[in-house]
Amino acid sequence: MPDSLVPASLTLSVIGVGYLGAVHAAAMAELGHRVIGLDVDQARIDALSEGQSPFHEPGFDELLRRNVDSGRLTFTTDYTELADVDVHFLALGTPQRDDGLGADLSYIHSALDALTSILEARNGKPTLIAGKSTVPVGTARELHARITSIDGVALAWNPEFLREGFAVEDTLRPDRLVYGVADQSAADQEIGLLDAVYAELLDLEIPRKVYNFESAELVKVSANSFLATKISFINAISELCDVTGADVNDVAEAIGMDDRIGPKFLRAGIGFGGGCLPKDIRGLISRAGELGTVDSFAFLRDIDAINQGRREYVVRLAKRLLEGSVDGKRIAVLGAAFKPDTDDVRDSPALDIALKLYSEGARVIITDPVANENVRGRYPSFHVEDSTEETLRDADLVLLLTEWKQYRDLDPRTAKELVSKAQIIDGRNALDLDTWRDAGWQVEALGRP
Ligand code: UGA
Repeated sequence: MPDSLVPASLTLSVIGVGYLGAVHAAAMAELGHRVIGLDVDQARIDALSEGQSPFHEPGFDELLRRNVDSGRLTFTTDYTELADVDVHFLALGTPQRDDGLGADLSYIHSALDALTSILEARNGKPTLIAGKSTVPVGTARELHARITSIDGVALAWNPEFLREGFAVEDTLRPDRLVYGVADQSAADQEIGLLDAVYAELLDLEIPRKVYNFESAELVKVSANSFLATKISFINAISELCDVTGADVNDVAEAIGMDDRIGPKFLRAGIGFGGGCLPKDIRGLISRAGELGTVDSFAFLRDIDAINQGRREYVVRLAKRLLEGSVDGKRIAVLGAAFKPDTDDVRDSPALDIALKLYSEGARVIITDPVANENVRGRYPSFHVEDSTEETLRDADLVLLLTEWKQYRDLDPRTAKELVSKAQIIDGRNALDLDTWRDAGWQVEALGRP
């Protein structure tokens, strides 16, 4: 599409304002666009419209409030308000299906159903649908077939790589922009509109890659699967360290100095969780099965199994420290979120371990700096404490399972005064072992002597 045909000011929609969509909507408004966020969840729309974030994400509250106050960012549940939108971003959830490992695409299809009459009423005015959700390879081509008869409407797949805890920074300063298009030799409209959306980022020379749909979809799931592989790899090595006396932090440090390997995502511990890595590796296994390449993805089942095994490993370690049984023992769990700087407890390794111990009769007390309400909402019978001191009080065993700064910075001497028995499992290799041992603690770190 020639530059002269790209509207001088763009109106965007973001359909689905969960974690990804809400951040994307506010960030696009920050880039100067008029943005309408749409969701079927009225309570969420009400909160966002008042500038209130429904989740904990550093920097997001200010970004949201600033752009709601400026009038550039509004929220609605009503599709008819999207009539003047030039670019619709699809940021709907694609959760794991109840009946298997694959992704549930029903939210995306419903959104497209609801959007169809709006797109038709544009009467040929250039409009783009840009998918941001993580989808199985082949999805964009299928969705494209659904919209191709509507005059003036194009589809691109524009995967998102943001990390929770760094979502604002990752959206406004991404490593790369990927545009997946139906036909790379005839994608002027898709490229023209997306370049106009991301003009400010392109000025910063953030690399922008135009691929076909399938490559763009695979970039996203491959990235997450590779990251998951790195974590399970170092966790497998960590188990070998435990039986040989090697230190996994030393191994990770030295292999990470090889820039073909790199130092990141080699932190051994209780493994990965959250709404993305576990779901995406299972989605890839499932899709590979449908496409007849399942044998080459057997390793990803092992990556998943190693990761789940870490949770059992900690439960066994807890039993060993408590002379064979956790029944009736008071266990303090520090951290419930799947990682620090988020209140997201989806597939949280910390919470999973806490629940396993609870089901074996332990008196588990769990605390988290920001995720307590989410834990209470999901597990009303669970003992959730707001104060770290009260969590630690009289504990027979302490488990550090999410490496929040306040737990890494705990003073072992003060903590020792509170507990019944000074023993701790460092599930994230986050503590300075010498300091804790000097203060009289028995410390079990995963993969460290
Ligand atoms: C992940 C990807 O990192 C993002 O690039 C991607 O955009 C996102 O999924 C997504 O698909 O939307 P996120 O789920 O926010 O982001 O979390 P990560 O930072 O990747 O961490 C995932 C898990 O791995 C956490 O439980 C973390 O504690 C664990 N982890 C991470 C380790 O156990 N060891 C490490 O060395 C690093």
